[in-house]
Amino acid sequence: MARRHTTSLIVPAVESRRARRARKRTERRLAGELLRAEQAARASRQAAERAARKGSPVLGRAGEAGPAAGRNLRPLRVQAHRATSATLAAAYPFLAEGGLGGEGVLIGSDAFSRRSFVFDPWVLYERGVITNPNVAVAGEIGTGKSALLKSLVTRSLCFRRRAYVPGDPKGEWTVVARAAGGAAIELGPGMPARINPLDAGSRPAGLDDATWRADVRARRLVLLTSVVETLLGRALHPVEHTSLAASLDAVTAGPGDPVLPQVVQAMLDPDPHGDLPAGVDTVEQLRDDGRDVGHALSRLVFGDLAGLFDRESTVTFDPARRMISLDVSRIGEDNPLIPLVMTCTSAWMESALRDPDGGKRWMVYDEAWKIMRQPALVRRMETQWRLSRAWGLANILAVHQLSDFAGVGDVGSEARARATALLALTSTRVIYRQPADQLAHTRTAMGLNSTEAELLPSLVVGRGLWRIGTRAFLVQHNLTAREIALFNTDARMHGDSSARAS
Ligand SMILES: Nc1ncnc2c1ncn2[C@@H]1O[C@H](COP(=O)(O)OP(=O)(O)OP(=O)(O)O)[C@@H](O)[C@H]1O
Ligand SMILES: [Mg+2]
Repeated sequence: MARRHTTSLIVPAVESRRARRARKRTERRLAGELLRAEQAARASRQAAERAARKGSPVLGRAGEAGPAAGRNLRPLRVQAHRATSATLAAAYPFLAEGGLGGEGVLIGSDAFSRRSFVFDPWVLYERGVITNPNVAVAGEIGTGKSALLKSLVTRSLCFRRRAYVPGDPKGEWTVVARAAGGAAIELGPGMPARINPLDAGSRPAGLDDATWRADVRARRLVLLTSVVETLLGRALHPVEHTSLAASLDAVTAGPGDPVLPQVVQAMLDPDPHGDLPAGVDTVEQLRDDGRDVGHALSRLVFGDLAGLFDRESTVTFDPARRMISLDVSRIGEDNPLIPLVMTCTSAWMESALRDPDGGKRWMVYDEAWKIMRQPALVRRMETQWRLSRAWGLANILAVHQLSDFAGVGDVGSEARARATALLALTSTRVIYRQPADQLAHTRTAMGLNSTEAELLPSLVVGRGLWRIGTRAFLVQHNLTAREIALFNTDARMHGDSSARAS
């Protein structure tokens, strides 16, 4: 309790010692009375407050007793710290990414800010955060790439998106597509489904005849060239190009969509009465020019893949389905021709999706690394990706590492440039666990800082570094119990055939 002092306002200029002592005594007495009066006033105020509080519960300063103890607000006393604003800007621990907003599919949680992480490439594209809706997921085997793809597309179905899997070599999407209310087309030896990769597909409204014909011809030529170049293991010579185009034109002149055996027949045994392309003088010359190409293509028709792509399609594409998967697992995941099969099935499905009014749709290339190993197939894919944005398609692919893109073709080759362009066409890149020897390349390709790169070898299953445009997020993908049961691919490791059941 502080002491109280009083003093006389007017003191005589000359004062006897006795008078001064008497005055001081009076001042001390008054100070004591003042103090006692204040104490009495405080005591009566506190008594009044206590009386007012009586009956109404008020939490004491120490909080509640019992199980809820310690939950009351207590002042946090920390020692003051002084630093320059430059230091504080880096040292302030309560900084977190602003996030991407709440519109989109819930993926899981942001590992740094602990907030929910949602993602929708079309929304971000409209907002100008990214320049294209394509997504690439790179990660070691079993790190959760397919599970992420499956969650992303199935969770987006309720936002009226649709999803298509144009070639599923492990057959793991069949059960997902059917559970989501979609369909799975199983392709392979002994299965009734046939598809014709040369199908013209759906014609977008408002396209005149000549433009449509030119468009279909260009697509068929790109497909045939990339398939033949892959089978031959080299680029086509100019005369072979001419011969392939002439054979395609010859069979297209007939009614309906041409089929591959017709193209092979026209190459190996051209019609002696047919038109010859400019620069070719005789039918014999045309036959010689197309010999290698014809034989290469015949492998797709009469060889290991006989019966798959050699007739008109027996399945139709129903765009009203929420999800369609093309299961090619019966052909054998390790069949060396599986990249070609995936390319043919992709071409067939993509042709059916060339409708700008078809809504926002996912094209899922799980196991895309199989295609990425074939430079000619990457070239076709890159052409397709350039066009797909106009049709509302978002491509999403899974690879093991980003060097799958850089490892295509030789240094400086056109194929390498195309693969790099494919990566450049992918604004969203998700990196799951990477082996240490991939760090340098991943860091350069993604523009990661050293802290981000150091995270990569130790990421747990389902945790990935998301690079969206120029921003980065560390995200844990959370699966629901139903998804865990549906997306489980470990069953394959234990020989459990139920994972393939429809
Ligand atoms: N976010 C997650 N949380 C928990 N488990 C997960 C998660 N993601 C994946 N898994 C589990 O890990 C296993 C492997 O996942 P997944 O098949 O998606 O890996 P992958 O990267 O596609 O493998 P691969 O390279 O062989 O295709 C699955 O059985 C799945 O259930
Ligand atoms: Mg997978």
